[in-house]
Amino acid sequence: MKLDFVLKGDVLFCTEDREVQTVPDVFLICKNGKCEGVFTDIPEQYKDFPVEDHTGKLIVPGMTDLHVHAPQYTYRGLGMDMELLDWLNENAFPEESRYSDAEYAKKAYAIFTEDLKNSFTTRACIFGTLHREATEILMDQLEETGLITYVGKVNMDRNGSESLSEESAEVSAAETRKWLDDINGRYKRTMPILTPRFIPSCSDELMKEIGKIAEEKGLRVQSHLSENPSEIAWVKELVPASENYGDAYALFNALGDEKHPAVMAHCVYTDEKELAILKAHHTFIAHCPDSNLNIASGIAPVRTFLESGVSIGLGSDVAGGASLSLVQAMVHAIQVSKMYWRHVDQDVKPLQFKDSFYMATLGGGKYFGKTGSFIPGYEFDALVIDDSALRSMRELTLHERAERMIYLSGECSIDAKYVAGKKIL
Ligand code: GUN
Ligand code: FE
Repeated sequence: MKLDFVLKGDVLFCTEDREVQTVPDVFLICKNGKCEGVFTDIPEQYKDFPVEDHTGKLIVPGMTDLHVHAPQYTYRGLGMDMELLDWLNENAFPEESRYSDAEYAKKAYAIFTEDLKNSFTTRACIFGTLHREATEILMDQLEETGLITYVGKVNMDRNGSESLSEESAEVSAAETRKWLDDINGRYKRTMPILTPRFIPSCSDELMKEIGKIAEEKGLRVQSHLSENPSEIAWVKELVPASENYGDAYALFNALGDEKHPAVMAHCVYTDEKELAILKAHHTFIAHCPDSNLNIASGIAPVRTFLESGVSIGLGSDVAGGASLSLVQAMVHAIQVSKMYWRHVDQDVKPLQFKDSFYMATLGGGKYFGKTGSFIPGYEFDALVIDDSALRSMRELTLHERAERMIYLSGECSIDAKYVAGKKIL
């Protein structure tokens, strides 16, 4: 199928300097699934391309969810009166244990994948459960959506529950290898990622095995880091040789490198030393403000992260987060940064729209290569958003319309969605 076409509409995107480019009423050109740029008239060489007219609508880059738990989706919004460790034992583990049943997984993952397809997300890093068969079902369904994703079979051989734990490090590693063999060559848009749940769930032996598999097969890793104070104290006991939580992952070669960067969710309590470790490994931080609010984890110093140059994007962390919406995550990121400034450190300026827009699009998109912007050469991920229901008594700039759209997204609609040039909505 030829992926050559033109979209007409009001275009916004971020550039590397985190500035927002606004170009009203223009032609955005996709050739071979890649962006050719934004033009006021269609240049001669693209005159034969079909034009989709979205005049008056917003066109923004597709958004990347760097951290989401597929099996937690169907209970989102429940059980929010606990902190992380109790929340895992009382909500996440009992629900995830149900995915030993393939029929349950099929039904539940159909709900997740349908809603993810209809969301602002075009790319995502997704946790499954420890179950191999259910994870393959999830990957089969995601491939059908047209989204581009990394998906992980979770590893956990300690501190789970009776119904949610792998017998040993060997069993967990063997299941992971079997999963990787099973899916080898099966997908075009769905990629495996190694997924040790977090240090408290994985014995030293298992972490070493995961490090080995990552190196052998050239795979990436996703996990959780420095989310909650009790969790961090526990990791210090579990890996006494580590300088900090990030170092505990580094000791097992789980933070990746420039070619195979890991993604670590949260980093609420990441200090200068831990940040230096993440930067040295080119690790991506998934900032998950909705989750950090719901399970009272705390507020990540995101302005500091942005200024440091570490790679960073947004995560929904459903079901710590209640919603898959990345524009809601954008709003929460701005709001929590204001509380950090007010209550924690008045030298750390709050985030603005442009910082949050950057993280949702280009910042997280970089995890997938050249995605998340309309810079020429970037993969063509785009959302057409109808904001016409947001009536106003004055003429708004494109920037003002986009700001309003994120705060009032429930009153807007996604009219079309493209991933690497393929129209999926
Ligand atoms: N840490 C380990 N597992 C989880 C999880 O499922 N959700 C969150 N938010 N943190 C975790
Ligand atoms: Fe999580």
